[in-house]
Amino acid sequence: TRVLVLNGPNLGRLGSREPDVYGSGNLDDLRVMLQASAPEGVSIDLRQTNDEGELIGWLYEATDGSIPVVLNPAAFTHYSYALRDAAALVTKAGIPLVEVHISNPHARETFRHSSVISAVATGVIAGFGFDSYRLALDAVLRPRPAGTE
Ligand code: DQA
Repeated sequence: TRVLVLNGPNLGRLGSREPDVYGSGNLDDLRVMLQASAPEGVSIDLRQTNDEGELIGWLYEATDGSIPVVLNPAAFTHYSYALRDAAALVTKAGIPLVEVHISNPHARETFRHSSVISAVATGVIAGFGFDSYRLALDAVLRPRPAGTE
């Protein structure tokens, strides 16, 4: 199984960007950590872009290929209806998509308290640093409990 781990704007600067909030690891560290903790037979396809259109294209790829998604939409979380509509294509197709955040946006500025993505995501994990991705990977690979489809 392949899992797409998609990262939005400014996450390419992890490691040097606000390390007090996001930690000192960079995206390569995240990729290595996630692949190492992935179950046997699961390959991690981790990508990052600052481009909304590119991120939307990757969600089409997930939809067309039935590939589960871990998505950190970064700042797009808070205002991109275009990304939300693309995320809805994934989950409406029955493919799991877990929204993930390194920080806990609810403990930060007011504009970070709302997500336009959450309502169309399978679920949300936030606030555990890079471990958020590990938890999200576990969640996205799990069979969904009855009544939550
Ligand atoms: C983030 C939280 C967002 O509010 C912020 O814009 C980011 C990163 C996180 O992982 O904590 O870029 O998604």
